[in-house]
Amino acid sequence: MNLEQYTALAGDALQTITDFRRWGASRFAAAGLDFSQGQQHPRGEADALLAAALHLEPEDLAELGAARLLGSEKTTIFKHFYQREILRRPAAYITGEAWFAGLRFGVDERVLIPRSLLEPFIEEGFAPWVEASQVRRILEIGTGSGCMAITLALRFPEAEVDAVDISADALAVAHANIRRYGLEDRVHLHQSDLFAALEGRRYDLILSNPPYVDATAMAELTPEYRHEPR
Ligand SMILES: C[S@@+](CC[C@H](N)C(=O)[O-])C[C@H]1O[C@@H](n2cnc3c(N)ncnc32)[C@H](O)[C@@H]1O
Repeated sequence: MNLEQYTALAGDALQTITDFRRWGASRFAAAGLDFSQGQQHPRGEADALLAAALHLEPEDLAELGAARLLGSEKTTIFKHFYQREILRRPAAYITGEAWFAGLRFGVDERVLIPRSLLEPFIEEGFAPWVEASQVRRILEIGTGSGCMAITLALRFPEAEVDAVDISADALAVAHANIRRYGLEDRVHLHQSDLFAALEGRRYDLILSNPPYVDATAMAELTPEYRHEPR
């Protein structure tokens, strides 16, 4: 099904924000999409895509639910919904944003969508195992979008953070996020295979959320995960 055919499914029935919220949620639920990279349920996912298309926040949608939409706005919303439902593109790549530890990060197909189980440990500064005042130098291996390195820099404001990745593409995304948070002076990027470019450096804290999907698991992943970098 192409975008034109997808748009035609709704005819002229959809006029308001609430109409689109309901339609998107119903379509996504019926299609059996995988929501585990994003909002975890069809309604949240429809809201995230709708809000991004309208330059709003998801929490604005209820209050503005009766607002009628322009043709150009509907076109953008259908494009977002089409990519999500038919192309199975993750919502974070469509909107260009993902959340980690309560912070917003720019993401695209060059990096994994943030979802590390390390998130609560970073937020709590690794208490009780790590004494924050003792941490001056931190290393993150495999930084991807830079979400963990940036969260670490904010959680440990006295520390310098080295963030490495083997992928130049990933480092470009991390660089944009570091600039977004104004942390260029404390978060330093290195293109490196593990420790290769870090000879002689020592750290108080080393963190990694390394690649963990083997070929067998990869073959069983849903189409959404195939949009993430191999
Ligand atoms: C699972 S992702 C984690 C990304 C990010 N830290 C997060 O939690 O969202 C693993 C990252 O490790 C990087 N990577 C893979 N092999 C590597 C290596 N040998 N040396 C450095 N980075 C590597 C990948 O490019 C990818 O960005």
